[in-house]
Formats: sequence, structure tokens, C-alpha cells
Amino acid sequence: MENFIFQNPVKLIMGKGMIARLAKEIPSDKRIMITFGGGSVKKNGVYDQVKEALKNHFTVEFWGIEPNPAIETLRKAIALGKEEKVDYLLAVGGGSVIDGTKLISAGILYDGDAWDLVLAGRPVTHTVPLATVLTLPATGSEMNNGAVISRRETKEKYPFYANYPIFSILDPEVTFTLPPHQVACGLADTFVHVMEQYMTTPGQSRIMDRWAEGILQTLVEIAPKIHENQHDYQLMADFMLSATMALNGFIAMGVSQDWATHMIGHEITALHGLTHGHTLAIVLPATLQVLHEEKGDKLLQYGERVWGITSGTREERIDEAICHTEEFFRSLGLTTRLHEENIGQDTILEVERRFNERGAKYGENGNVTGAVARRILETAL
Ligand code: NZQ
Ligand code: ZN
Repeated sequence: MENFIFQNPVKLIMGKGMIARLAKEIPSDKRIMITFGGGSVKKNGVYDQVKEALKNHFTVEFWGIEPNPAIETLRKAIALGKEEKVDYLLAVGGGSVIDGTKLISAGILYDGDAWDLVLAGRPVTHTVPLATVLTLPATGSEMNNGAVISRRETKEKYPFYANYPIFSILDPEVTFTLPPHQVACGLADTFVHVMEQYMTTPGQSRIMDRWAEGILQTLVEIAPKIHENQHDYQLMADFMLSATMALNGFIAMGVSQDWATHMIGHEITALHGLTHGHTLAIVLPATLQVLHEEKGDKLLQYGERVWGITSGTREERIDEAICHTEEFFRSLGLTTRLHEENIGQDTILEVERRFNERGAKYGENGNVTGAVARRILETAL
């Protein structure tokens, strides 16, 4: 195990009816800007619950943070926040609303263009406090300090690091209205977050391995049941907590991390608009295939502990583990090949070009360069 420092300050408030807690959690003298996506919260009652809870607070609303939040939209929110002298932000939505609001919280206190903050690549510490009401289990943004911001003009999408939310409210009932495709993408995203922190070198930490495998096993168990009944509170509660636990730092203590699949996936979203979790379902099996030599020992462990694969030669067991992974994504209703989404060689070459241009060296061994990304995407064709 490597040395590490761990601190996660987010207060988690979980359960039915917990949105009402907003009134107590946010000091009454705050000037709050509430941020929303495209309107799902008006249809499922979340908006009414939030407004009722904050009826004695000062609030201003910003609507329209889209999936894969765009700097073009966020600039408008930053301008409104400055004009209204906002000193508290409440993001109500999925990862996109929360991520976008993290940039808003930095942008309100910054004099230049907020895109500079994204490009700078340094964590921003000067931010307006922010809290969240999560409506979509997937990204873990409700309990981490990451965000991913897009620029439509240039079809770019980059990670950005700023503040942890002060608190996040997770009411599983709000997930009942999610479109099935978003549920599938959320399950895939959660699964791949775990894999990015687990599928590296074995023997680094027994406790991290078991926690990671525990989340993977939970997802494998609940996914078909959720497919049958998305209104089962207990199932959705487990899904929601799995997604949070998959990317809040708890499974990453003292171990190496990969993230190559995510970096490749972000390019596919930036170029084609494909939903984030869906890009990962396409890229991960191919990443495992191309890197199966270096990840072989961990693939054997994963195959045995998550999929119960105990017989066959080393190569057969590795292949079977990768097949199970791809089949799992397909069982969610996602395609797992680029051609199924009409994505071809021109995109592959563009991703290679972009990686080469920025001198990319992703993965736990720093060897996922443009050329390797190209091999991965050609395997995913
Ligand atoms: O905009 P509205 O109308 O609210 O609809 C949303 C949106 O269309 C809808 N939705 C959300 N909750 C709903 C609902 N519809 C019905 N009922 C509900 N309860 O779902 C659609 C997708 O929402 P979005 O927020 O885009 O999804 P997700 O949470 O998957 O976020 C994706 C973004 O997060 C980034 C991704 O790259 C992508 O930009 N990520 C952020 C990470 C982080 N901060 O740590 C890590 C991840 O790896 C990821 O990259
Ligand atoms: Zn992700």
C-alpha cells in the first residue's frame, strides 16, 4: 500500500423525505442560487420539495444546465450569480448539474473567463459553498471534488477539480422517474468507476480490493432486478449508495488508478454526444483486451471473485472475465461496439491525434498513448 492522505468532508443525508432537511442545513441568511437541468425535476416533484423546504430563504434559480455541461451555458449562470451576489449554491440534478455548479462556484469568484480555470488543470480552492440534491446515481459528483466540463464550440471535454459539496441529499425515491437508458448508463458508469481504481496491479491492498469487489458484486446482483422494477426503494437505495461509494475516494486509498477508459470515453462524448456511461461500456472491454498482459493477474482475481470463474487456462479465464464484462453491459441494454453507434475510423484517428497533441500517457503504467488508444478503439469497432 502506498502512503496516502484521505479526507472527504461531504455530509451525506440519505433517505425518503430528506429533501425537507434543506431548511435546516443551509443558514437562513444565505443568498442561494439553485441550479437545475432541463426540467425533469418539475415533473417528478423534486422541484416542489426543494422550493417548499427553502420557502423562508432567499433563492434565485438558474435553469438549463444540459447533459455534459457546456461552458457556454455556465458563463450565463456565473454572470447571474455575480449580479445577484450569490453566496451559496444548491445543485439539483444529476452529475451534469452538479459538475456545472462546481465550475459556477469557482467562476463567481474569478474575474476572467471560467474556461481558463478548466484549462489551467489545477484544483481551484477559492469557491462559493455548494450543496446538492442528487437525482441520478452515476458520477459520484455528489461526494467528490471533480467535474467534467465541455466546450461545444470546439467539441472538447476536460476534467476540472474544485470543491466538495458541503452536503448532499440522496433520496432514492427521486430515481423512480429516470429514463431506463439513464439507469443503464448510471450502472455502467458506477461499474467502470470501480474498475478504474481496481483493475490495476494486484496485491496493493486487500481491503481496497474487497470493497471494490463488493460494489461490483452489488451492481451485478441488483442490475437485473432494477431492470424488472425500477420503483423498488431498497434496490434503488443500494444503487444510489453504490454510485456514491464508487467515486468518493473510499476505494482508492493507497492504490494505483487507471482512468484511461474514461479519458477515451470523454473524447467519444465530445465528438458524438454519446452518453458518458454508454461510452465506457464500449471502451472498457476493449481496454481490458488490449492491456490484458499487464492487467492479467488482476483480471484472474476479478474473474474468480466477481464472476466465479475458477477453471480453464490462464488465457481462457482472462478471456471469460472480459466476455462477462461486455455481456454485463449488454444485459443493461447498452451497445458495446463503436459500429453499432455508427462511429468509425475517422473518430479513432481524431482521438489518436488529440492524445498525441497533448502528449497523453494515461493508465496506471502511463502507457496509454495515442497509439494505444487507437488500438483500443479499433478493438471496440
Ligand atoms: O436535465 P434534466 O431534465 O434534469 O434531465 C436529466 C438529463 O437529461 C435526466 N435526469 C436526471 N435525473 C432524473 C432525470 N430524468 C428523470 N428523473 C430523474 N430523477 O437525466 C439526463 C442525464 O443527466 P446527467 O446529469 O447528464 O447524467 P449523469 O449524472 O450521468 O452526469 C453525466 C456527466 O457527469 C460527468 C460526465 O462526463 C457527464 O458530463 N462525470 C462526472 C464525474 C465526476 N464529477 O466525478 C465523473 C464521471 O466519470 C463523469 O465523467
Ligand atoms: Zn464516469
